Amino acid sequence: MRTVTRVLDVSAAGLVLLVGVSGAGKSTFAARRFRPTQVVSSDHCRALVSDDENDQSATDDAFHLLHTIVDRRLRRGLLTVVDATNLHPHPRQELRRIARDHDLPCVAIVLDTPPDLIRERTRNRADRVLDDDVTTRQLRDLRRTLRRLDREGFRAVHVLRGPEEADTAVVRPVPLRCDRRELRGPFDVIGDVHGCRAELEALLHRLGYRLRRDERGRATGAHYPGRTAVFVGDLVDRGPDSPGVLRLVMGMVADGDALCVAGNHENRLVRALRGRGTRLAHGLRETLEQLAAEPAEFRDRVLAFCADLVDHYVLDGGNLVVAHAGLKEEYHGRDSGRVRAFALYGETTGEVDRYGRPVRLPWARNYRGRAAVVHGHVPTTRVEWVNNTLCVDTGCVFGGRLTALRYPEREVVDVPAERVWYEPAGPLGTG
Ligand code: CTP
Ligand code: MG
Repeated sequence: MRTVTRVLDVSAAGLVLLVGVSGAGKSTFAARRFRPTQVVSSDHCRALVSDDENDQSATDDAFHLLHTIVDRRLRRGLLTVVDATNLHPHPRQELRRIARDHDLPCVAIVLDTPPDLIRERTRNRADRVLDDDVTTRQLRDLRRTLRRLDREGFRAVHVLRGPEEADTAVVRPVPLRCDRRELRGPFDVIGDVHGCRAELEALLHRLGYRLRRDERGRATGAHYPGRTAVFVGDLVDRGPDSPGVLRLVMGMVADGDALCVAGNHENRLVRALRGRGTRLAHGLRETLEQLAAEPAEFRDRVLAFCADLVDHYVLDGGNLVVAHAGLKEEYHGRDSGRVRAFALYGETTGEVDRYGRPVRLPWARNYRGRAAVVHGHVPTTRVEWVNNTLCVDTGCVFGGRLTALRYPEREVVDVPAERVWYEPAGPLGTG
């Protein structure tokens, strides 16, 4: 039988658990596909703490050491592979918890090697003596594991059935989607547009982008040789032409002329377009009405685009981070639910101010990171660096300005709003 080569995607920053009975070939698999320092083996840890990798009485100490190594490596965002049987739910959960503590994904690779081959290998092993009933018990644990692994919270579960699949499988480390450090710019980071299509066109024109239009005169793209626009999210809601903004930005992203991160308003729009119950407040009703006048095909593309938006980007070798509501340093280049929540909504105290707006924690004032963080979300009247962070939301839809930061020049370019499109709930902040 011909075996098709399996390509196993794992996160280039994150944890990989090998799963399999003793003799399944885990250590052999790991040695052929990962660098020695990437692999943390329970047997090796057992040897380090007891001088004997078969000394089962050293198991607790060995796993203590293994967890420490995994924790320190994941703190650095390094790809880390755990070579242990991982046949029991609790130890797997412990390892996933470490990955989650560092906001990194965890992937399982299961070696489901046939029992006859396991027993044959075990008999021939010089490095390990195993009772047959240990093997029998582990094989039973593996069946149980295979039944529940999909529901345990792994980002992916790859099961390799048989020795051929295991021998030929290729592991492909894939960078997290937020990791675009290879993009060096220069960039034009553009603040919250909120449906202000005319102002966006004017700003792009001022920045030197050449706009492209369709036969009906609608802007469908904008290009500046060598430069990339980066939208901080909140393209939609409150303003007069959210579909027009989406058409332009979606065209720019498709052409490689722009990147865009998700804002909280895109998030709500996705919920609404999927028919999930959500309050039609803060301009969402107007956006849905505007979109209702568009063909269904356009709405489908809008939904696909908004649902696919990444919550932040790390750019320029790690020197620039763009996130809608900003991002504290420990979350840069990480991928988890709480990273996404912070990037889209920021950290709030749970209280509201006298205008009914959430009270925000001043993450920027405590920011000490190396990367410049450029964000939007909270409209301000003054564009001002705070500890290497900059808010470029200058409340265009509230009659303020639409602002871009040229990076690395650190030059601010803006255009005034044509009018007040939406009354703010209270006065805009001053940064
Ligand atoms: N082996 C093999 N061909 C493979 C994989 C493994 O012949 N494709 C042999 C190895 O040479 C070794 C035995 O099978 O003698 C067990 O392989 P190993 O990779 O050590 O298995 P592990 O799953 O790591 O077993 P343990 O849990 O006991 O460490
Ligand atoms: Mg081994």
